[in-house]
Amino acid sequence: MIVGAYAQLNDEALRHNLALVRSHAPHAKVMAVIKANAYGHGLLRVVSALADADAFAVARVDEAIRLRTAGCTKAITVLEGFSTAEQLAAIVHYQLDTVVHTVEQIRLLNNNAHPQARITVWLKIDTGMNRLGFKVNDFSMAYQALNGCAMVKHPVGLMTHLANADDSSDDFTLRQMALFNKVTQGYLAPRSLANSAGLLAWPATLSDWVRPGIMLYGISPFSDRVGQTLGLQPVMSLHSQLIAVKSIAVGETVGYAGSWRCEQATRIGVVAMGYGDGYPRCAKVGTPVLVNGYRVPLIGRVSMDMMTVDLASQPQAKMGDPVMLWGKALPVEEIAGCANTIAYTLVCGITPRVQFV
Ligand SMILES: Cc1ncc(COP(=O)(O)O)c(C=O)c1O
Repeated sequence: MIVGAYAQLNDEALRHNLALVRSHAPHAKVMAVIKANAYGHGLLRVVSALADADAFAVARVDEAIRLRTAGCTKAITVLEGFSTAEQLAAIVHYQLDTVVHTVEQIRLLNNNAHPQARITVWLKIDTGMNRLGFKVNDFSMAYQALNGCAMVKHPVGLMTHLANADDSSDDFTLRQMALFNKVTQGYLAPRSLANSAGLLAWPATLSDWVRPGIMLYGISPFSDRVGQTLGLQPVMSLHSQLIAVKSIAVGETVGYAGSWRCEQATRIGVVAMGYGDGYPRCAKVGTPVLVNGYRVPLIGRVSMDMMTVDLASQPQAKMGDPVMLWGKALPVEEIAGCANTIAYTLVCGITPRVQFV
């Protein structure tokens, strides 16, 4: 038995979610986004469960090297691309695909041509996100320059990123798409726009390649829905146990700063789970926690290693009883809402102390 915080991963759920991606985008290839340690789920384990994906995408060169050296033979795209000649050399050496989004990168490609080396490049166009990408007015220059690079395979892929696709009432996505289509019209090249929200809410953004991230992990990209209502299955569940149960009298306070005061005599449970494990410190009083499968409210402040729950509704609860912090019966999206954040940050924030089983 594991004592302390642990996370359980459901490989079958990953496969189910990938199949759901394919059902939404039956004509597209799937570039599974597994950056940031597969959104906190564990890079290599996720990759082996997602063996049916057509390609993978990570943010940084280091992540791609880790994947390649672990034996992944599929295409791996580096979404942030490279910033130095050394990183470019690594991209060539490890046969990685790269996004190109600046003139400096094109310069590096020209100045560091490796004889015989050919790399697959995605040209990123900034259609309104104002993060990475060439402005639309610079697209044609960048496209021609890239096509003139000896090291770049043809055709160059064309990519943009959607800034607000999780808001289905905002037509910004349609405007981004229209701009992308206008700028790239007539170019014979693979295209890629859709993230999870695009895939689920904006079918017009489907193109040759889709780039789902969060939905692969069973989590909704929308703030007003949980993944299970979209047909997704949660991949991660987070668990621990009660390590103490005690009685509290009226007027006593619980935890740092005494921020929770007992108004009715009760029993509280101490759970071995805190922000040192990645549970959000800012989760508010009342955030649900499952003890023996039943919902009880968080009370007091979350501390580094522990948190406290009110066991008034669970008189049988005792030391050693199982606790679930999120999972199938307690959506991580709901916990994110109680912590005034998004579920992406919760799963990405699980710390190395947490055992994965
Ligand atoms: C360029 C790019 N494409 C796709 C994704 C996947 O997005 P999501 O996790 O919302 O599906 C991301 C993630 O932020 C990204 O940066």
